Amino acid sequence: MYRTDVATFGVIGCGVIGAGWAARALGRGLDVVAWDLDPHAADKTREAIERAWPAVRKLGIYPGADPDRLRFVGSIDEVGATADFVQESVPENLALKQTLLAQVDAVTPPDVIIATSTSGLLMSELAVNCVAQDRMLVGHPFNPVYLLPLCEVVGGRATSPEAIAAAMEVYDFLDMHPLKVRHEIDGHLADRLQEALWREILHIVQDGHATTGELDDSIIYGPGLRWAAMGTNLVYHLAGGAGGMRHLLDQFGPSLKLPWTKLEAPELTDEIVDALVTGTAEQAAGRTVEELERLRDDYLIAVMKALRAVDIGAGRVFANREARRFDHGAVRWREGEDVGAPLALYRCQVEPEWVDYNDHMTEAAFLTAFGWASDALFRYIGDDEGYRAAENSFYTVESHINYRKEALLDDPLRFTTQILGLDDKRLHFYHEMYNEDTDELLCTTEQMLVHVDTVAARSTPIMPGPRKALEAIWEVHRDMPRPKDVGRIMEVPE
Ligand SMILES: NC(=O)c1ccc[n+]([C@@H]2O[C@H](COP(=O)([O-])OP(=O)(O)OC[C@H]3O[C@@H](n4cnc5c(N)ncnc54)[C@H](O)[C@@H]3O)[C@@H](O)[C@H]2O)c1
Repeated sequence: MYRTDVATFGVIGCGVIGAGWAARALGRGLDVVAWDLDPHAADKTREAIERAWPAVRKLGIYPGADPDRLRFVGSIDEVGATADFVQESVPENLALKQTLLAQVDAVTPPDVIIATSTSGLLMSELAVNCVAQDRMLVGHPFNPVYLLPLCEVVGGRATSPEAIAAAMEVYDFLDMHPLKVRHEIDGHLADRLQEALWREILHIVQDGHATTGELDDSIIYGPGLRWAAMGTNLVYHLAGGAGGMRHLLDQFGPSLKLPWTKLEAPELTDEIVDALVTGTAEQAAGRTVEELERLRDDYLIAVMKALRAVDIGAGRVFANREARRFDHGAVRWREGEDVGAPLALYRCQVEPEWVDYNDHMTEAAFLTAFGWASDALFRYIGDDEGYRAAENSFYTVESHINYRKEALLDDPLRFTTQILGLDDKRLHFYHEMYNEDTDELLCTTEQMLVHVDTVAARSTPIMPGPRKALEAIWEVHRDMPRPKDVGRIMEVPE
Protein backbone atom coordinates (compact mmCIF):
# COMPACT_ATOMS: atom_id res chain seq x y z
CA MET A 1 0.00 0.00 0.00
CA TYR A 2 2.83 2.43 0.83
CA ARG A 3 6.02 2.52 -1.24
CA THR A 4 8.91 0.73 0.37
CA ASP A 5 10.87 0.23 -2.83
CA VAL A 6 12.69 3.52 -2.69
CA ALA A 7 14.77 4.58 -5.68
CA THR A 8 14.46 8.35 -5.21
CA PHE A 9 14.65 9.88 -1.74
CA GLY A 10 13.03 13.31 -1.35
CA VAL A 11 14.52 15.91 1.00
CA ILE A 12 12.72 19.12 1.96
CA GLY A 13 14.84 21.54 3.97
CA CYS A 14 18.58 21.05 3.51
CA GLY A 15 20.27 22.32 6.67
CA VAL A 16 22.37 20.18 9.00
CA ILE A 17 19.78 17.40 9.09
CA GLY A 18 18.41 17.56 5.52
CA ALA A 19 21.94 17.44 4.04
CA GLY A 20 22.70 14.54 6.41
CA TRP A 21 19.67 12.61 5.08
CA ALA A 22 20.81 13.33 1.52
CA ALA A 23 24.32 12.00 2.27
CA ARG A 24 22.91 8.84 3.86
CA ALA A 25 20.58 8.16 0.90
CA LEU A 26 23.34 8.88 -1.64
CA GLY A 27 25.70 6.49 0.15
CA ARG A 28 22.96 3.84 -0.10
CA GLY A 29 23.13 4.23 -3.88
CA LEU A 30 19.84 6.16 -4.25
CA ASP A 31 18.89 9.22 -6.28
CA VAL A 32 18.07 12.23 -4.13
CA VAL A 33 15.76 15.06 -5.09
CA ALA A 34 15.96 18.10 -2.81
CA TRP A 35 14.39 21.49 -2.24
CA ASP A 36 15.07 24.34 0.19
CA LEU A 37 13.85 27.91 0.46
CA ASP A 38 17.36 29.35 0.65
CA PRO A 39 18.58 30.38 -2.84
CA HIS A 40 22.13 29.28 -1.90
CA ALA A 41 20.98 25.94 -0.54
CA ALA A 42 22.09 23.88 -3.56
CA ASP A 43 25.73 24.94 -3.14
CA LYS A 44 25.60 24.69 0.64
CA THR A 45 24.14 21.18 0.48
CA ARG A 46 26.70 20.00 -2.05
CA GLU A 47 29.46 21.35 0.20
CA ALA A 48 27.94 19.64 3.24
CA ILE A 49 27.75 16.35 1.34
CA GLU A 50 31.34 16.76 0.18
CA ARG A 51 32.39 17.21 3.82
CA ALA A 52 30.38 14.17 4.89
CA TRP A 53 31.43 11.92 2.00
CA PRO A 54 34.78 10.69 3.40
CA ALA A 55 32.92 9.42 6.47
CA VAL A 56 30.18 7.88 4.32
CA ARG A 57 32.91 6.15 2.32
CA LYS A 58 34.41 4.80 5.53
CA LEU A 59 31.00 3.51 6.57
CA GLY A 60 30.90 1.81 3.19
CA ILE A 61 29.03 2.96 0.09
CA TYR A 62 26.85 0.81 -2.14
CA PRO A 63 27.60 0.11 -5.80
CA GLY A 64 26.60 3.11 -7.90
CA ALA A 65 26.61 5.51 -4.94
CA ASP A 66 27.56 8.96 -6.16
CA PRO A 67 27.14 12.48 -4.68
CA ASP A 68 26.28 13.66 -8.20
CA ARG A 69 23.03 11.77 -7.94
CA LEU A 70 21.69 14.69 -5.87
CA ARG A 71 19.27 16.82 -7.92
CA PHE A 72 18.18 20.17 -6.59
CA VAL A 73 14.75 21.30 -7.79
CA GLY A 74 12.92 24.62 -7.74
CA SER A 75 9.70 23.62 -5.97
CA ILE A 76 8.06 21.29 -3.50
CA ASP A 77 5.89 20.00 -6.37
CA GLU A 78 8.92 18.55 -8.13
CA VAL A 79 9.97 16.69 -4.99
CA GLY A 80 6.42 15.40 -4.55
CA ALA A 81 6.23 14.27 -8.18
CA THR A 82 9.49 12.27 -8.19
CA ALA A 83 10.26 11.04 -4.67
CA ASP A 84 9.34 7.56 -3.41
CA PHE A 85 9.73 8.79 0.19
CA VAL A 86 9.79 12.37 1.46
CA GLN A 87 11.72 13.52 4.54
CA GLU A 88 11.03 17.06 5.77
CA SER A 89 13.74 18.81 7.80
CA VAL A 90 12.85 22.51 8.03
CA PRO A 91 13.36 24.45 11.30
CA GLU A 92 11.63 23.28 14.47
CA ASN A 93 8.62 25.61 14.36
CA LEU A 94 5.09 24.21 14.63
CA ALA A 95 3.32 26.75 12.38
CA LEU A 96 6.04 26.57 9.70
CA LYS A 97 6.00 22.78 9.63
CA GLN A 98 2.17 22.65 9.62
CA THR A 99 2.00 24.86 6.53
CA LEU A 100 4.85 23.16 4.73
CA LEU A 101 3.67 19.60 5.41
CA ALA A 102 0.23 20.52 4.03
CA GLN A 103 1.91 21.79 0.85
CA VAL A 104 3.96 18.60 0.52
CA ASP A 105 0.89 16.46 1.21
CA ALA A 106 -1.07 18.23 -1.57
CA VAL A 107 1.49 17.42 -4.29
CA THR A 108 2.67 13.93 -3.28
CA PRO A 109 0.96 10.68 -4.38
CA PRO A 110 -0.94 8.99 -1.53
CA ASP A 111 1.26 5.90 -1.42
CA VAL A 112 4.38 7.99 -0.67
CA ILE A 113 5.23 8.36 3.01
CA ILE A 114 5.96 11.87 4.27
CA ALA A 115 8.15 11.92 7.35
CA THR A 116 9.28 14.84 9.47
CA SER A 117 12.60 15.01 11.31
CA THR A 118 11.05 16.98 14.19
CA SER A 119 13.01 16.66 17.41
CA GLY A 120 9.99 16.77 19.65
CA LEU A 121 6.80 18.13 18.08
CA LEU A 122 3.74 15.88 17.91
CA MET A 123 2.66 14.42 14.57
CA SER A 124 -1.04 14.83 15.37
CA GLU A 125 -0.48 18.59 15.68
CA LEU A 126 1.88 18.83 12.71
CA ALA A 127 -0.56 17.07 10.37
CA VAL A 128 -3.66 19.16 11.14
CA ASN A 129 -3.72 20.79 7.69
CA CYS A 130 -2.92 17.62 5.74
CA VAL A 131 -5.50 15.56 3.88
CA ALA A 132 -3.76 12.16 3.72
CA GLN A 133 -2.79 12.07 7.40
CA ASP A 134 -2.50 8.28 7.31
CA ARG A 135 0.97 8.52 5.67
CA MET A 136 2.37 11.32 7.82
CA LEU A 137 4.80 10.31 10.55
CA VAL A 138 7.86 11.34 12.53
CA GLY A 139 11.22 9.87 11.49
CA HIS A 140 13.54 11.47 14.04
CA PRO A 141 17.24 11.02 13.20
CA PHE A 142 20.39 12.00 15.08
CA ASN A 143 23.20 14.21 13.91
CA PRO A 144 25.25 13.23 11.90
CA VAL A 145 22.38 11.51 10.10
CA TYR A 146 24.79 9.90 7.61
CA LEU A 147 26.49 7.95 10.43
CA LEU A 148 24.19 7.49 13.42
CA PRO A 149 21.75 4.65 12.87
CA LEU A 150 18.97 5.63 15.31
CA CYS A 151 15.70 6.86 13.80
CA GLU A 152 12.69 7.19 16.13
CA VAL A 153 9.48 6.44 14.26
CA VAL A 154 6.31 7.93 15.74
CA GLY A 155 2.81 8.13 14.33
CA GLY A 156 0.10 10.68 15.02
CA ARG A 157 -3.52 9.82 15.85
CA ALA A 158 -4.37 9.43 12.14
CA THR A 159 -1.17 7.65 11.03
CA SER A 160 -1.90 4.13 9.81
CA PRO A 161 0.01 1.20 11.33
CA GLU A 162 0.84 0.11 7.77
CA ALA A 163 2.57 3.45 7.12
CA ILE A 164 4.60 3.03 10.31
CA ALA A 165 5.57 -0.50 9.24
CA ALA A 166 6.50 0.72 5.76
CA ALA A 167 8.63 3.58 7.15
CA MET A 168 10.40 1.16 9.49
CA GLU A 169 11.22 -0.94 6.43
CA VAL A 170 12.56 2.06 4.51
CA TYR A 171 14.74 3.26 7.42
CA ASP A 172 16.05 -0.27 7.83
CA PHE A 173 16.83 -0.28 4.10
CA LEU A 174 18.82 2.92 4.74
CA ASP A 175 20.83 0.91 7.28
CA MET A 176 19.34 2.68 10.28
CA HIS A 177 17.94 1.28 13.50
CA PRO A 178 14.29 2.33 13.35
CA LEU A 179 12.93 2.50 16.90
CA LYS A 180 9.14 2.50 17.03
CA VAL A 181 7.94 4.92 19.71
CA ARG A 182 4.69 3.43 20.87
CA HIS A 183 3.02 6.59 22.12
CA GLU A 184 3.16 10.10 20.79
CA ILE A 185 4.94 11.96 23.59
CA ASP A 186 6.68 15.35 23.62
CA GLY A 187 10.38 14.94 22.85
CA HIS A 188 9.93 11.29 21.76
CA LEU A 189 12.35 9.09 23.75
CA ALA A 190 16.00 10.04 23.20
CA ASP A 191 15.49 13.80 23.25
CA ARG A 192 13.53 13.49 26.46
CA LEU A 193 16.55 11.81 28.02
CA GLN A 194 19.06 14.19 26.43
CA GLU A 195 17.01 17.18 27.54
CA ALA A 196 17.03 15.98 31.16
CA LEU A 197 20.83 15.84 31.12
CA TRP A 198 21.04 19.18 29.33
CA ARG A 199 18.84 20.87 31.96
CA GLU A 200 21.12 19.60 34.72
CA ILE A 201 24.14 20.91 32.82
CA LEU A 202 22.54 24.35 32.62
CA HIS A 203 21.88 24.36 36.36
CA ILE A 204 25.39 23.23 37.27
CA VAL A 205 26.97 25.83 34.95
CA GLN A 206 24.66 28.54 36.26
CA ASP A 207 25.52 27.70 39.86
CA GLY A 208 29.22 27.83 38.97
CA HIS A 209 29.89 24.25 40.15
CA ALA A 210 31.65 23.16 36.94
CA THR A 211 32.68 24.33 33.49
CA THR A 212 31.29 22.85 30.29
CA GLY A 213 34.62 21.04 29.80
CA GLU A 214 34.54 19.46 33.28
CA LEU A 215 30.97 18.32 32.71
CA ASP A 216 31.94 16.76 29.38
CA ASP A 217 34.88 15.01 31.11
CA SER A 218 32.40 13.61 33.63
CA ILE A 219 30.75 11.84 30.72
CA ILE A 220 33.49 10.95 28.23
CA TYR A 221 35.75 9.06 30.64
CA GLY A 222 32.92 7.14 32.26
CA PRO A 223 29.22 6.88 31.51
CA GLY A 224 29.64 7.84 27.84
CA LEU A 225 31.82 4.81 27.17
CA ARG A 226 29.15 2.56 28.65
CA TRP A 227 26.20 4.18 26.95
CA ALA A 228 27.14 3.22 23.39
CA ALA A 229 26.96 -0.45 24.26
CA MET A 230 24.45 -0.82 27.09
CA GLY A 231 22.41 2.35 27.54
CA THR A 232 21.50 3.26 31.10
CA ASN A 233 19.23 0.48 32.32
CA LEU A 234 21.37 -2.53 31.54
CA VAL A 235 24.40 -0.69 32.96
CA TYR A 236 22.50 -0.14 36.23
CA HIS A 237 21.49 -3.80 36.27
CA LEU A 238 25.21 -4.62 36.30
CA ALA A 239 25.84 -1.95 38.93
CA GLY A 240 23.69 -4.02 41.28
CA GLY A 241 26.28 -6.82 41.19
CA ALA A 242 24.99 -10.37 41.38
CA GLY A 243 21.67 -9.06 42.73
CA GLY A 244 21.18 -7.02 39.55
CA MET A 245 18.57 -4.28 39.23
CA ARG A 246 16.64 -5.34 42.34
CA HIS A 247 19.70 -4.95 44.56
CA LEU A 248 20.59 -1.65 42.88
CA LEU A 249 17.12 -0.28 43.61
CA ASP A 250 17.34 -1.42 47.24
CA GLN A 251 20.66 0.36 47.61
CA PHE A 252 20.13 3.53 45.58
CA GLY A 253 16.35 3.82 45.68
CA PRO A 254 16.41 6.18 48.68
CA SER A 255 18.78 8.59 46.89
CA LEU A 256 16.07 9.19 44.30
CA LYS A 257 14.42 11.30 46.98
CA LEU A 258 17.56 13.37 47.56
CA PRO A 259 17.92 16.65 45.63
CA TRP A 260 20.40 15.22 43.08
CA THR A 261 18.56 16.63 40.09
CA LYS A 262 16.52 19.73 39.42
CA LEU A 263 15.09 18.86 35.98
CA GLU A 264 13.10 22.10 35.69
CA ALA A 265 15.18 24.16 33.21
CA PRO A 266 16.68 27.40 34.54
CA GLU A 267 16.08 30.72 32.79
CA LEU A 268 18.56 31.14 29.91
CA THR A 269 20.16 34.27 31.35
CA ASP A 270 23.02 36.13 29.60
CA GLU A 271 25.37 34.71 32.23
CA ILE A 272 24.51 31.09 31.41
CA VAL A 273 24.73 31.72 27.68
CA ASP A 274 28.16 33.36 28.15
CA ALA A 275 29.39 30.50 30.31
CA LEU A 276 28.29 27.92 27.73
CA VAL A 277 29.73 29.80 24.78
CA THR A 278 33.09 30.58 26.41
CA GLY A 279 33.29 27.11 27.94
CA THR A 280 32.79 25.30 24.65
CA ALA A 281 35.09 27.74 22.81
CA GLU A 282 37.81 26.82 25.33
CA GLN A 283 37.13 23.14 24.73
CA ALA A 284 37.32 23.64 20.96
CA ALA A 285 40.80 25.12 21.57
CA GLY A 286 40.96 26.90 18.23
CA ARG A 287 39.64 23.98 16.19
CA THR A 288 36.94 24.89 13.68
CA VAL A 289 33.52 23.23 13.67
CA GLU A 290 34.57 21.50 10.45
CA GLU A 291 37.70 20.06 12.13
CA LEU A 292 35.68 18.91 15.11
CA GLU A 293 33.08 17.34 12.79
CA ARG A 294 35.84 15.30 11.16
CA LEU A 295 37.11 14.20 14.55
CA ARG A 296 33.56 13.27 15.61
CA ASP A 297 32.95 11.30 12.40
CA ASP A 298 36.22 9.37 12.75
CA TYR A 299 35.44 8.63 16.37
CA LEU A 300 31.89 7.44 15.59
CA ILE A 301 33.14 5.10 12.87
CA ALA A 302 35.82 3.73 15.19
CA VAL A 303 33.22 3.09 17.91
CA MET A 304 30.84 1.37 15.51
CA LYS A 305 33.66 -0.83 14.26
CA ALA A 306 34.64 -1.70 17.82
CA LEU A 307 31.02 -2.58 18.58
CA ARG A 308 30.87 -4.71 15.44
CA ALA A 309 33.58 -6.91 16.91
CA VAL A 310 31.38 -7.62 19.95
CA ASP A 311 28.13 -7.71 17.94
CA ILE A 312 26.37 -4.99 19.92
CA GLY A 313 23.94 -2.21 18.95
CA ALA A 314 25.31 0.14 16.27
CA GLY A 315 28.07 -2.43 15.57
CA ARG A 316 25.45 -4.93 14.47
CA VAL A 317 23.91 -2.34 12.13
CA PHE A 318 27.40 -1.68 10.75
CA ALA A 319 27.96 -5.41 10.12
CA ASN A 320 24.55 -5.72 8.42
CA ARG A 321 25.41 -2.84 6.14
CA GLU A 322 28.65 -4.52 5.19
CA ALA A 323 26.88 -7.81 4.40
CA ARG A 324 24.20 -6.02 2.40
CA ARG A 325 26.73 -4.01 0.43
CA PHE A 326 28.51 -7.13 -0.66
CA ASP A 327 25.30 -9.01 -1.34
CA HIS A 328 23.97 -6.12 -3.41
CA GLY A 329 24.05 -7.13 -7.05
CA ALA A 330 25.91 -10.36 -6.19
CA VAL A 331 25.85 -12.86 -9.05
CA ARG A 332 24.56 -16.40 -8.28
CA TRP A 333 25.40 -19.60 -10.09
CA ARG A 334 22.42 -21.15 -11.87
CA GLU A 335 22.39 -24.62 -13.36
CA GLY A 336 22.69 -24.59 -17.13
CA GLU A 337 23.98 -21.00 -17.32
CA ASP A 338 27.43 -20.30 -18.80
CA VAL A 339 30.30 -20.15 -16.31
CA GLY A 340 32.93 -17.44 -16.85
CA ALA A 341 36.46 -18.69 -17.52
CA PRO A 342 37.76 -17.01 -15.47
CA LEU A 343 34.87 -15.79 -13.30
CA ALA A 344 34.49 -12.01 -12.96
CA LEU A 345 32.45 -11.57 -9.79
CA TYR A 346 33.82 -8.62 -7.88
CA ARG A 347 34.69 -4.95 -8.39
CA CYS A 348 35.42 -2.21 -5.89
CA GLN A 349 37.35 1.01 -5.37
CA VAL A 350 40.40 1.38 -3.15
CA GLU A 351 38.89 2.47 0.18
CA PRO A 352 40.27 5.27 2.39
CA GLU A 353 41.19 2.74 5.07
CA TRP A 354 43.18 0.63 2.65
CA VAL A 355 45.88 3.21 1.99
CA ASP A 356 48.94 4.42 3.90
CA TYR A 357 50.31 7.96 4.25
CA ASN A 358 51.45 7.85 0.60
CA ASP A 359 47.90 7.00 -0.54
CA HIS A 360 49.25 3.58 -1.57
CA MET A 361 47.24 0.46 -0.86
CA THR A 362 48.90 -1.45 1.98
CA GLU A 363 49.98 -5.10 1.84
CA ALA A 364 47.29 -6.09 4.30
CA ALA A 365 44.65 -4.26 2.26
CA PHE A 366 45.48 -6.34 -0.83
CA LEU A 367 44.61 -9.41 1.20
CA THR A 368 41.45 -7.71 2.48
CA ALA A 369 40.35 -6.93 -1.06
CA PHE A 370 41.05 -10.51 -2.13
CA GLY A 371 38.99 -11.58 0.88
CA TRP A 372 36.01 -9.72 -0.57
CA ALA A 373 36.67 -11.29 -3.98
CA SER A 374 36.56 -14.69 -2.25
CA ASP A 375 33.33 -13.61 -0.55
CA ALA A 376 31.85 -12.90 -4.00
CA LEU A 377 32.85 -16.43 -5.08
CA PHE A 378 31.23 -17.87 -1.94
CA ARG A 379 27.98 -16.01 -2.59
CA TYR A 380 28.09 -17.17 -6.23
CA ILE A 381 28.16 -20.82 -5.15
CA GLY A 382 25.51 -20.34 -2.43
CA ASP A 383 27.80 -19.99 0.60
CA ASP A 384 25.93 -17.03 2.08
CA GLU A 385 24.58 -15.92 5.51
CA GLY A 386 22.15 -18.89 5.53
CA TYR A 387 24.92 -21.37 4.75
CA ARG A 388 27.11 -19.94 7.48
CA ALA A 389 24.20 -19.84 9.95
CA ALA A 390 23.89 -23.59 9.31
CA GLU A 391 27.46 -23.85 10.66
CA ASN A 392 29.22 -24.33 7.32
CA SER A 393 32.12 -22.29 6.06
CA PHE A 394 35.40 -22.35 4.17
CA TYR A 395 38.55 -21.49 6.13
CA THR A 396 41.71 -20.36 4.34
CA VAL A 397 44.69 -22.53 5.22
CA GLU A 398 47.34 -21.14 2.85
CA SER A 399 47.77 -17.94 0.79
CA HIS A 400 50.47 -16.79 -1.62
CA ILE A 401 50.42 -13.19 -2.82
CA ASN A 402 52.39 -11.65 -5.67
CA TYR A 403 52.47 -7.86 -5.66
CA ARG A 404 53.11 -6.40 -9.11
CA LYS A 405 51.95 -2.78 -9.17
CA GLU A 406 50.70 -0.29 -6.64
CA ALA A 407 47.09 0.78 -6.26
CA LEU A 408 46.07 4.26 -5.10
CA LEU A 409 43.15 5.67 -3.16
CA ASP A 410 39.92 5.51 -5.21
CA ASP A 411 41.43 3.36 -7.98
CA PRO A 412 38.73 1.15 -9.50
CA LEU A 413 39.58 -2.53 -9.14
CA ARG A 414 38.24 -5.62 -10.86
CA PHE A 415 38.96 -9.21 -9.96
CA THR A 416 38.99 -12.52 -11.83
CA THR A 417 38.80 -15.93 -10.21
CA GLN A 418 39.94 -19.33 -11.44
CA ILE A 419 39.37 -22.65 -9.66
CA LEU A 420 42.58 -24.70 -9.65
CA GLY A 421 41.44 -27.77 -7.77
CA LEU A 422 38.53 -29.29 -5.86
CA ASP A 423 37.76 -32.35 -3.80
CA ASP A 424 35.27 -33.26 -1.06
CA LYS A 425 36.70 -30.83 1.45
CA ARG A 426 39.29 -28.70 -0.32
CA LEU A 427 39.04 -25.77 -2.69
CA HIS A 428 42.11 -24.33 -4.44
CA PHE A 429 41.67 -21.08 -6.33
CA TYR A 430 43.47 -18.09 -7.80
CA HIS A 431 42.44 -14.41 -8.04
CA GLU A 432 43.88 -11.67 -10.23
CA MET A 433 43.36 -8.01 -9.37
CA TYR A 434 43.35 -5.41 -12.17
CA ASN A 435 43.08 -1.65 -12.31
CA GLU A 436 39.77 -1.34 -14.12
CA ASP A 437 40.75 1.90 -15.90
CA THR A 438 44.20 0.91 -17.15
CA ASP A 439 43.63 -2.87 -17.28
CA GLU A 440 47.01 -3.37 -15.59
CA LEU A 441 47.49 -6.50 -13.49
CA LEU A 442 48.19 -5.30 -9.93
CA CYS A 443 48.34 -8.40 -7.79
CA THR A 444 47.55 -12.13 -7.75
CA THR A 445 46.82 -14.61 -5.00
CA GLU A 446 46.60 -18.36 -4.81
CA GLN A 447 44.72 -19.84 -1.87
CA MET A 448 43.85 -23.21 -0.40
CA LEU A 449 40.66 -23.46 1.64
CA VAL A 450 39.18 -26.23 3.72
CA HIS A 451 35.46 -26.69 4.27
CA VAL A 452 34.59 -26.79 7.99
CA ASP A 453 31.81 -27.35 10.44
CA THR A 454 32.24 -24.08 12.33
CA VAL A 455 30.85 -25.35 15.62
CA ALA A 456 32.73 -28.63 15.76
CA ALA A 457 35.80 -26.78 14.35
CA ARG A 458 36.79 -29.64 12.08
CA SER A 459 36.81 -30.25 8.35
CA THR A 460 33.63 -31.58 6.77
CA PRO A 461 32.55 -32.32 3.17
CA ILE A 462 31.26 -29.36 1.17
CA MET A 463 27.42 -29.38 1.27
CA PRO A 464 25.54 -30.48 -1.89
CA GLY A 465 24.40 -27.02 -3.14
CA PRO A 466 27.80 -25.26 -3.20
CA ARG A 467 29.44 -28.54 -4.19
CA LYS A 468 27.28 -28.74 -7.31
CA ALA A 469 28.13 -25.14 -8.25
CA LEU A 470 31.84 -25.73 -7.66
CA GLU A 471 31.82 -28.87 -9.78
CA ALA A 472 30.16 -26.96 -12.63
CA ILE A 473 32.86 -24.26 -12.39
CA TRP A 474 35.66 -26.83 -12.11
CA GLU A 475 34.33 -28.61 -15.20
CA VAL A 476 35.00 -25.41 -17.16
CA HIS A 477 38.16 -24.22 -15.38
CA ARG A 478 40.10 -27.50 -15.35
CA ASP A 479 41.09 -26.95 -18.99
CA MET A 480 42.21 -23.36 -18.52
CA PRO A 481 45.97 -22.70 -18.72
CA ARG A 482 47.66 -22.73 -15.30
CA PRO A 483 48.60 -19.13 -14.36
CA LYS A 484 52.37 -18.70 -14.11
CA ASP A 485 52.18 -17.25 -10.57
CA VAL A 486 50.67 -20.50 -9.29
CA GLY A 487 52.97 -22.69 -7.22
CA ARG A 488 55.83 -20.19 -7.24
CA ILE A 489 58.57 -20.65 -4.68
CA MET A 490 60.20 -17.68 -3.01
CA GLU A 491 64.00 -17.86 -3.11
CA VAL A 492 67.15 -15.92 -3.95
CA PRO A 493 68.80 -18.10 -6.62
CA GLU A 494 72.39 -19.16 -5.78
N1 LIG B 1 20.28 19.66 14.46
C1 LIG B 1 20.03 18.53 15.10
O1 LIG B 1 20.87 18.01 15.85
C2 LIG B 1 18.73 17.80 14.86
C3 LIG B 1 18.67 16.44 15.15
C4 LIG B 1 17.51 15.74 14.85
C5 LIG B 1 16.41 16.40 14.31
N2 LIG B 1 16.48 17.72 14.06
C6 LIG B 1 15.30 18.38 13.46
O2 LIG B 1 15.53 18.53 12.07
C7 LIG B 1 14.87 19.70 11.60
C8 LIG B 1 15.88 20.60 10.90
O3 LIG B 1 16.88 20.96 11.81
P1 LIG B 1 18.32 21.48 11.33
O4 LIG B 1 19.18 21.40 12.51
O5 LIG B 1 18.71 20.78 10.08
O6 LIG B 1 18.01 23.00 11.00
P2 LIG B 1 18.85 23.99 10.05
O7 LIG B 1 18.53 25.36 10.52
O8 LIG B 1 20.26 23.56 9.97
O9 LIG B 1 18.21 23.76 8.61
C9 LIG B 1 16.91 24.14 8.27
C10 LIG B 1 16.84 24.29 6.75
O10 LIG B 1 15.49 24.56 6.40
C11 LIG B 1 15.47 25.62 5.44
N3 LIG B 1 14.19 26.29 5.52
C12 LIG B 1 13.80 27.24 6.39
N4 LIG B 1 12.51 27.55 6.15
C13 LIG B 1 12.11 26.80 5.11
C14 LIG B 1 10.91 26.68 4.41
N5 LIG B 1 9.83 27.39 4.72
N6 LIG B 1 10.86 25.80 3.41
C15 LIG B 1 11.95 25.07 3.06
N7 LIG B 1 13.11 25.12 3.69
C16 LIG B 1 13.18 25.99 4.71
C17 LIG B 1 16.65 26.48 5.78
O11 LIG B 1 17.07 27.22 4.64
C18 LIG B 1 17.68 25.44 6.21
O12 LIG B 1 18.44 24.99 5.10
C19 LIG B 1 14.21 20.32 12.81
O13 LIG B 1 12.88 19.87 12.88
C20 LIG B 1 15.01 19.76 13.97
O14 LIG B 1 14.27 19.69 15.16
C21 LIG B 1 17.63 18.45 14.31
